[in-house]
Amino acid sequence: MLNPKPTSKFIYITIVILISLNFLIISTVSEDSDDIEDLIALDEEQDEQSSQKPSSEAEVLTKAQRIVLELNNDNSQKSIDGNEYVFVLGYAPWDVRSAELMPRFAEAAGSLNELNTPVLMAKIDAERYPKVASNLGVKGYPTLLLFVNGTSQPYTGGFSSEEIVIWVRKKSGTPIMRINSIDEANDFLKKHSMYAVGLFDKFEGPNYGEFVKAATTDNEIQFVETCTSQIASILFQDVKSTNPFLGIVKNEPERYTSFEDAFEKDKILQFLNDNKFPLVTFLTEVNSVKVYASDKLQVVYVFAEAYEFQKLLELFQNAARKFKSKIMYVFVDIKDDNLAKPFLTLFGLEDSEYTLVTAFDYKTGAKYLLESDPTPANIEEFGSGLLKGTLPSFYKSQAIPNNKDEDILTVVGKTFDDVVLSSSKNILLEIHTPWCLNCETTTKQVEKLAKHFKGLENLVFAKIDASVNEHPKLEVEDYPTLLFYPVTDKSNPINLPTKSSSKDLAILINKYLKDSAHDEQPVTKDEL
Ligand SMILES: *[C@@H]1O[C@H](CO)[C@@H](O)[C@H](O)[C@H]1NC(C)=O
Repeated sequence: MLNPKPTSKFIYITIVILISLNFLIISTVSEDSDDIEDLIALDEEQDEQSSQKPSSEAEVLTKAQRIVLELNNDNSQKSIDGNEYVFVLGYAPWDVRSAELMPRFAEAAGSLNELNTPVLMAKIDAERYPKVASNLGVKGYPTLLLFVNGTSQPYTGGFSSEEIVIWVRKKSGTPIMRINSIDEANDFLKKHSMYAVGLFDKFEGPNYGEFVKAATTDNEIQFVETCTSQIASILFQDVKSTNPFLGIVKNEPERYTSFEDAFEKDKILQFLNDNKFPLVTFLTEVNSVKVYASDKLQVVYVFAEAYEFQKLLELFQNAARKFKSKIMYVFVDIKDDNLAKPFLTLFGLEDSEYTLVTAFDYKTGAKYLLESDPTPANIEEFGSGLLKGTLPSFYKSQAIPNNKDEDILTVVGKTFDDVVLSSSKNILLEIHTPWCLNCETTTKQVEKLAKHFKGLENLVFAKIDASVNEHPKLEVEDYPTLLFYPVTDKSNPINLPTKSSSKDLAILINKYLKDSAHDEQPVTKDEL
């Protein structure tokens, strides 16, 4: 069933013409929605033709129509019910991500059609046909759903057209491409740089069964199979003559990796998972979802300018080889704001222009920064420290401020220990962020309170901007937060209600001051 070529030249030419026509239709639909009615009429005409006379001409029409069908109130249910496999893109015309995905979806539709994949590719304008879209299960934009005999499953593949093709074929009965000749193998190599290859005596038996199961379960890797070692050796250099053989091929220095374990679905999938990413992954908009979804819980992210990173690439590849299947290494172009900024903000280093080597441990939520130069030894030590859990966690901090003559001390990450935890005073700490809604009101209240309590020896007012300062003992979810740290027990700060009046706050503070100084007569002020 693979790549069956149309037998007559006439059919072939007709397909080409119809494919081009359909692509034209796809582009006009989005530009001029008034034409949609006509297009639907055309679609239905074709439908009738194909059902009336099952001639080869009608088959060709059906095939071409199978590129991307625009669903609407009338044809939606019929399309889902009448086809074993329907792959639906739910979109909104104004949605940017839909707009990005649509050409890739159309390209995938073209490839799937060329490969004779029996899937109806369809799209639904969820704004124009909200009811149809909601019945189909389209909840956001863009949404991709595969209907198998009327039951939908969510899309779990990548977002390049190649990845869409691989996923759809996997889930619609063609999880593996069979390579039958040397020509086919060379042809395949021209189009694919990453794949899993299996060599079997016969396409049957338990080992082969596990291979097929793995191919179907996996969501993103193209599987190929052959029963000739000569063909296998084109696809995988130095293929071992062990039969069966399984290997993964990638377009990078670590090009060929062979599977050395027992042929069991889960072991095969684990092997692919451990080996599918290159030694160092270059983060892009397209692969980001896949990278973030990786099951590797310890990730080293390197932020640098692309040309700077070229000089470091080999060092990181060596480290990645050493910590393979444990740590994932990712390069992010520091100039790419969309990708780099969200990470750099976590370190308070969003304006950095220099190479930064960072790491995340998603098991513990800790983040790390390599503070020494990225030499081979330091990079390796950083990796082994990350694995052993011996690296010091990184906490954001502003520079240490000069608090001279201030009524309210500014605390930063680095001074939190000194000013708050180990000081011999009671501390009233305001935790704020620049964006929080009620922070300004609270800040004004705290200023008023600081004035009111001024001169009181055992009470210090302080504030910290939690957007740029962190401390392991400061875990706050809401802003603003007011915490009273009693001198007698700094590890159990008391939460003050930020919605209270200044007067009520003053009363509370007095009470806590009294509580924390049983033996001393506290100096208090009761009126504000
Ligand atoms: C879909 O339904 C048809 C007819 O009942 C059946 O032959 C086919 O195996 C079903 N396909 C899948 C993938 O379950």
